Amino acid sequence: MTITYPDIKPWGRSFEDYVRMFSLTPADLKRKILGCGDGPASFNAELTECGGNIVSIDPVYSFSADQIQERIGETCDYVLDQTRKNQDKFVWQEIGSIAELERRRMSAMAKFLEDFPKGVVQKRYLAGELPSLPFGDGEFDLALCSHLLFLYTDNLSLDFHLRSMAELCRVAKEVRIFPLLDVNGNRSPYIDLLTDFLRAEKRDVMKVKVAYEFQKGGNTMLKIC
Ligand SMILES: C[S@@+](CC[C@H](N)C(=O)[O-])C[C@H]1O[C@@H](n2cnc3c(N)ncnc32)[C@H](O)[C@@H]1O
Repeated sequence: MTITYPDIKPWGRSFEDYVRMFSLTPADLKRKILGCGDGPASFNAELTECGGNIVSIDPVYSFSADQIQERIGETCDYVLDQTRKNQDKFVWQEIGSIAELERRRMSAMAKFLEDFPKGVVQKRYLAGELPSLPFGDGEFDLALCSHLLFLYTDNLSLDFHLRSMAELCRVAKEVRIFPLLDVNGNRSPYIDLLTDFLRAEKRDVMKVKVAYEFQKGGNTMLKIC
């Protein structure tokens, strides 16, 4: 079966997931971080609790916590159903079942929802979207973008990817993107084109293996310095 997402779903992972998806070291966690497309992930909430310095930007933050919660409810059934019908595309080692997947993701998103009102006041959650970000050049040490670029290859054009990547590189000294697969676990055809584009701009582009794999073969991030 093929996984189809007619639109980009608000679905959130945990701090622990982010640390592994992006191989974040204790030194990385002390840097000024931009989480682009963080949606209902609990990375911002949990990093802030540990004294980190992070701003997350996502179009979903223009809604209230209640509205986001409602969208998560709708998304949950859809995502779990798609995953259930395509279980062969995932690694069921650490997460052993659909029920466990639901428990982990809903627990991360509950942490986000609890933190969201406070984070909006503290300007840690900003409504905005790629490919145009409301930040100055080099304002962040590190920009992280998980489960948006490449994953939604069917929904977002090559031009969108090129402009988004240029924008992330403008606002941050280093950019990390995860995963490099689309929703069906295929390597995104944009990767090589984007790599060529970034190298032509004299940037270092590396594919780095990470200690996280839920989509089969999805254990590599793109690191741009
Ligand atoms: C699948 S979620 C991933 C959330 C989080 N990064 C994670 O991995 O747990 C994708 C997120 O991208 C956000 N998004 C969609 N279009 C965007 C854009 N143009 N710029 C930034 N974020 C966007 C959605 O609102 C959604 O919250």
